[in-house]
Amino acid sequence: MRLKSKRIIVTGGASGIGSAICSIFASEGAKIVIADIDGNGAQNTASLINKDNEKALAVCSDISSEKSVKILIQKSVEFLGGIDILINDAAAFIFGSVEEITKSDWEKVFGVNVIGSSNMIKYALPYLKKSHNSSIVNIASVSSFIAQPSFIPYNASKGALLQLTRCLALDLAKYDIRVNAVSPGAIYTPATERHIEFEGVDRDEFLKSVAETSFLKRLGKPEEVAKAALFLASDEASFITGTQLVVDGGATV
Ligand SMILES: NC(=O)c1ccc[n+]([C@@H]2O[C@H](COP(=O)([O-])OP(=O)(O)OC[C@H]3O[C@@H](n4cnc5c(N)ncnc54)[C@H](O)[C@@H]3O)[C@@H](O)[C@H]2O)c1
Repeated sequence: MRLKSKRIIVTGGASGIGSAICSIFASEGAKIVIADIDGNGAQNTASLINKDNEKALAVCSDISSEKSVKILIQKSVEFLGGIDILINDAAAFIFGSVEEITKSDWEKVFGVNVIGSSNMIKYALPYLKKSHNSSIVNIASVSSFIAQPSFIPYNASKGALLQLTRCLALDLAKYDIRVNAVSPGAIYTPATERHIEFEGVDRDEFLKSVAETSFLKRLGKPEEVAKAALFLASDEASFITGTQLVVDGGATV
């Protein structure tokens, strides 16, 4: 019960890594608000958790909209009674070369991955400040620090999210709020399937070639990222701030 009575918001909790974070955090004793633009998906995650008892609330919200975030924080505080931990997992996946991408692509990817995460922190901050041992975990990516072919907008936004993490760790230390990032490598989630469709590549060949890039010769599981986020979010990481935990099976070593 490493998160016993912790009050937590997880963005992107409808699917993939975010959904695994919600389930594992709930099993560690947390009370959770699951925020996602996919309201039905968020409700599904909440229903799974609430089979045991009423520990989760789904809130349909778009983190790139300040208005939506303000409503989300208000509903969260009503349900949780405060906020101890914020997990910024929601992301927009927009790829392409510099010639291909449009202004609206840039606005969308930064609007969600950077400004959206920052909106969440801004409006959760008054409550995080009141909590003891509060922390923020941003789900960044190995794309935050390596180059990948024609991944320009996504990688630029994830690089910015990693910098946001470091700068906030400095600025929020005076409130005893720790800020860290988890940087996953290739993790098998619904986003992987969408990427295969987007690239128009052979599914089996793609998955095999991605698996080959890691020392462990496989893709990671959402639960393996969730457990890294659990460590950083929990009091076990009480002297860790401004860092990233890379979960990539050795792919970027
Ligand atoms: N899957 C991977 O290989 C991988 C690798 C590195 C990093 N990541 C990161 O992990 C996180 C989760 O990825 P995933 O693979 O589980 O993806 P996913 O698509 O399964 O989940 C992302 C969730 O974010 C939600 N979302 C998107 N825009 C939103 C918005 N504006 N407001 C609220 N919710 C929004 C989606 O509805 C979805 O439920 C992302 O930050 C992603 O960048 C994933």
